[in-house]
Amino acid sequence: MISDAVLNRTHNCGQLRESDLGAEVRLCGWVKSYRDHGGVIFVDLRDRYGITQVVFDTPEEGDDAGKAMYELADSLRNEWVISIAGVVRHRGEDRINPKLNTGQIEVVCTELTVLNESDTVPFGPDSFTSVAEETRLKYRYIDLRRPEMTRSMTLRHEITSAMRSVLNESGFVEVETPFLTKSTPEGARDFLVPSRMNQADFYALPQSPQLFKQILMVGGMDRYYQVVRCFRDEDLRADRQPEFTQLDLEMSFVTQADVMDITNKVLREVCKVAGKEFPDEVPIITYDEAMDKYGIDRPDIRFEMFLHDVSEIVSATDFKVFTGAIESGGVVKVLCAPGGAKFTRKEIDVYTAFVADYGARGLAWTKLEGGAFAGGVAKFLSPEVQQQLRDAVGAADGDILFFAAAGVDDVNKILAPLRVRVAEDIGLIAPDTYAWCWITEFPLVSYNAQQKRWDSLHHPFTMPAVEDMDQLTADPGAAKSLAYDIVCNGTEMGGGSIRIHDRKIQEKIFEILGIGPEEAEEKFGFLLDALRFGAPPHGGLALGLDRIVMEMVSAPSLRDVIAFPKTQRGTCPLTGAPAEVDDNQLAELDLKIIVPHKK
Ligand code: AMO
Ligand code: AMP
Repeated sequence: MISDAVLNRTHNCGQLRESDLGAEVRLCGWVKSYRDHGGVIFVDLRDRYGITQVVFDTPEEGDDAGKAMYELADSLRNEWVISIAGVVRHRGEDRINPKLNTGQIEVVCTELTVLNESDTVPFGPDSFTSVAEETRLKYRYIDLRRPEMTRSMTLRHEITSAMRSVLNESGFVEVETPFLTKSTPEGARDFLVPSRMNQADFYALPQSPQLFKQILMVGGMDRYYQVVRCFRDEDLRADRQPEFTQLDLEMSFVTQADVMDITNKVLREVCKVAGKEFPDEVPIITYDEAMDKYGIDRPDIRFEMFLHDVSEIVSATDFKVFTGAIESGGVVKVLCAPGGAKFTRKEIDVYTAFVADYGARGLAWTKLEGGAFAGGVAKFLSPEVQQQLRDAVGAADGDILFFAAAGVDDVNKILAPLRVRVAEDIGLIAPDTYAWCWITEFPLVSYNAQQKRWDSLHHPFTMPAVEDMDQLTADPGAAKSLAYDIVCNGTEMGGGSIRIHDRKIQEKIFEILGIGPEEAEEKFGFLLDALRFGAPPHGGLALGLDRIVMEMVSAPSLRDVIAFPKTQRGTCPLTGAPAEVDDNQLAELDLKIIVPHKK
């Protein structure tokens, strides 16, 4: 039995300072490391708050209790859980560890209790970098003992609290919405849950609480928020998890500017908590401008290096790659990398291979050296064209120009990632910079050439920014929407829109999207019904909490900011999910596995 007294901590392991010299203290924690310095044993004791050095001095002759304690200390191993009592003393000037908050002191142990032993750990929290991520996730409890993980988890908590405080103070009410529900239209695949009580029927886990929050507005909630899990069965990437958390909000009787204002307020507080800058005025960039200058609707504005459309200029050349693309309705855009003339042939080949992954058939280039273009496609550029190009892109001696020629969407898909890659390589991105921007005036729909139909760019409940509905039917592609995204350092942190509150407009949008009345009724009938019974004008947004924390701690993956994340294959190595279920469970659900399990 462990006595209650040994659990009665006076301090945590990150707390003691020089001002505590002489204090009698009790600490509990994990043995991070132990060193036997011939007669003196040092133990680094770790908990969530930090590390404290504990010292076991050689016992005096005849001090049997001291000797027993010393022997126990000698048997300690990494990750054992112990409680110690002792006295705080100075380490001595020459042994101060400036890297630790507690680096000036140590605790001379007077009593040691082993609370629990540990098997030899598969990896130490300190040696995690040499361990496969799968192993780290399997033994997540060990990984979570790392200071970096502790920091992510606590910062995540502080960020969530800050979000809640701002919204609570602004009259928002947190309302929970169901997880066992019907499909919601965020464009990903649903996770389905079979219903036992309604055989052959399925619930869908929500991709977001979109429809419920709109219905809450119809229900008069006025200002709603929820820190909520969303489920999307899509291909996973570093910044995508199958279940992730949103700060979801919705407001009645508001304009787009109102939603953006409250979001700025939330983000300002989030950044304050994380010790990061947030601009007084967040730049607002229209979708068209973003696509034109950055080639993407989530531009990284930490650096300039814009894309330039030079189609008109280069159409006067004899270079088939350029003229061919333009003749078939495409464009030629240029990225001018300052100082890039120093790139070797090999480095240019690496960029060519890089853009090939984004579908580029090649990467034309030329360098500006000694007042003239040289190398690559320079031979196709007359002196007049050269001068026009220099003026258009603002090229200086020592720069390199990269060209992409294709349809405008393809060109943007190629040059947007190249722009970021080159900026990283030439050091254009200052560390610890957070460049936020709003993207507005999104198109309402985009053409799905494969399916030969219009798709919503956000979701089908987004209000079009057109007065005249006939105009919308005539040319859906030209219509803008009242949708907005918030972007930081090239990552989409959140998005939202003013919603359609008028059933007639909603029906018109369904018509444009090729969703017939029956399908609309079947999928969203409950929302359409609600719109008939006094739906107020409303709008909202959702922030990706995981992505925000990831950016604030500069983590390379969402997995670093989620306690129990999924792998790239959607599995959980800790629990072994997803897993087979037994035949009885299947029988109860009236389900049968037809294709046998591949293991
Ligand atoms: P959207 O689909 O843009 O909007 O999602 C909002 C934000 O959630 C984050 N996010 C993700 N984070 C991690 N893993 C994912 N798989 C993932 N998918 C999205 C992003 C994104 O900006 N109902 C609308 C919001 C609204 O209109 O109010 C919605 O869900 O940071
Ligand atoms: P080619 O005439 O096909 O040998 O191409 C000449 C140069 O143009 C090479 O540097 C190619 O990488 C580049 N190139 C080819 N196709 C494209 C394209 N669609 N956009 C930009 N550069 C290209």
